[in-house]
Amino acid sequence: MTLSAVLEEIGKRPGTSEMVPIFNPSVGEQIGEFADGGAAAIDEAVARARATFESGVWRGKTGSERSRILWRVADLIEERADELAELDARNGGMPVSQARSIMFASAEFFRYCAGWCTKINGIAHDVNMAGGLSGKSAEIHGYTLKEPVGVVGLITPWNGPFHVAAIKLAPALAAGCSCVLKPAEQTPLSALVMEKVLAQAGVPDGVVNIVVGHGHTAGAALAEHPDVDKISFTGSTEVGKKIVHAAAGNLKKVMLELGGKSPVLIYDDADLAQAIPAAAMGIFVHSGQGCICGSRVYVQRGIYDRVVDGIAQIARALRQGGSHDDNIDIGPVVSQKQLDRVTGYIEEGKRDGAEVVAGGNRRDRPGYFVEPTVLTQVRPDMRLVQEEIFGPVVAVTPFDDDDEVLALANDSVYGLAATAWTRDVGRAHRLAKRLDAGMVTLNCQMVWDPALPIGGHKQSGWGAEYGIDGIEAYMKTKSVYTML
Ligand code: NAI
Ligand code: MG
Repeated sequence: MTLSAVLEEIGKRPGTSEMVPIFNPSVGEQIGEFADGGAAAIDEAVARARATFESGVWRGKTGSERSRILWRVADLIEERADELAELDARNGGMPVSQARSIMFASAEFFRYCAGWCTKINGIAHDVNMAGGLSGKSAEIHGYTLKEPVGVVGLITPWNGPFHVAAIKLAPALAAGCSCVLKPAEQTPLSALVMEKVLAQAGVPDGVVNIVVGHGHTAGAALAEHPDVDKISFTGSTEVGKKIVHAAAGNLKKVMLELGGKSPVLIYDDADLAQAIPAAAMGIFVHSGQGCICGSRVYVQRGIYDRVVDGIAQIARALRQGGSHDDNIDIGPVVSQKQLDRVTGYIEEGKRDGAEVVAGGNRRDRPGYFVEPTVLTQVRPDMRLVQEEIFGPVVAVTPFDDDDEVLALANDSVYGLAATAWTRDVGRAHRLAKRLDAGMVTLNCQMVWDPALPIGGHKQSGWGAEYGIDGIEAYMKTKSVYTML
């Protein structure tokens, strides 16, 4: 589907009278609008999902059947990678070539989850405490059943519109759940193609239902819906907390992926030819709008100036432009709101005494562009050091030894990712143990694989995505005892 075809289709979706504008952040212009689905569309979608869950059209299929269908989804995503990348790039601002490679990662994610469909099993147990309260001993056999958790609500953010939808839908479908997906209101377009891909691959009608709308309307209605069994949410910590409250009504299960303020430690024995560009791109890629971006860099004092200089040089050299401009490295941030938010943190930092070594301003052109920005002379209590900015802004601080840098690195309400650069293997693994984060990368950055779980510590989340943990997040375990 072309951009104009998707815009036309989304413009016709039924909803409330509240219209939501859609922008192209590369030029800062509105390109379309759609009607907020609101609570009514959520009610209908949940009812359709519930009906399919009860009828068993999806969860009743064999693992092998589900696996084949999910594998077909992956093939179709690859076939439609250009089309999907076009939508996410125009609507989200990411350079189109990067958006395209993420489509292949999304397809791989479906394949990884497709593989689990035939490998999800309960286990048999020898029951040792036979007899129970009756006191009589009996021979009892025990086993567990793994069952889909039910109807799940998936609420996704704008920073990876198609990809985050894929990493929630793939495990939910592998587990046998029925789903309601609410994409971010800023970037709803590629979800419409997802709907078609799933249908074409053979996911039965009503198993995945997509509702477009605002967070405070459609999202909130999904989070509090009494007939939804679980919410899987990626977004801000603020909204994550609202979802926890909304979930209390029916005590639905909640999985949260809430971003972070990830520290990067660079020791003086590190391979700086690798560490400097990786630390720079670990924050500037996608204009810093990634949950695992390394927004706090701590550098051992002897190499501090060299590293600051190196990161600043990269910041100045990065080619920034619209998603479809030639030869660009990074694009804009997603919205005017995000632009104001990011530049607001930079301005506040300047007022509080931070030094701007590179960047520091909005670019003088249409669209929502913030220069890649390197800040030094920051204090641990500054908001720009404590809070997730979600923009191309890095704070660089010197340190002397392990204890000092670990105290600084772990001084955060977040605990999503952390990185250490050192050639000392023993130290690297000691740091991996002591860094309070759900994901630690040693001598590499911005790496992830469908097989390794990612779950935030502290206020970075609840539960984990990816890996078998990420499949089990969409399942529940039942214990069965049987008298022999
Ligand atoms: P957000 O958390 O408001 O939006 C994420 C999703 O939650 C969207 O689909 C939105 O419609 C939905 N939502 C909003 N309010 C809701 C509610 N009351 N109930 C249910 N769903 C609701 O994020 P926002 O405001 O767009 O961005 C603000 C900041 O959040 C960013 O600057 C960044 O720091 C953080 N963020 C982190 C992300 C991550 O990947 N960890 C992704 C997006 C934002
Ligand atoms: Mg918000």
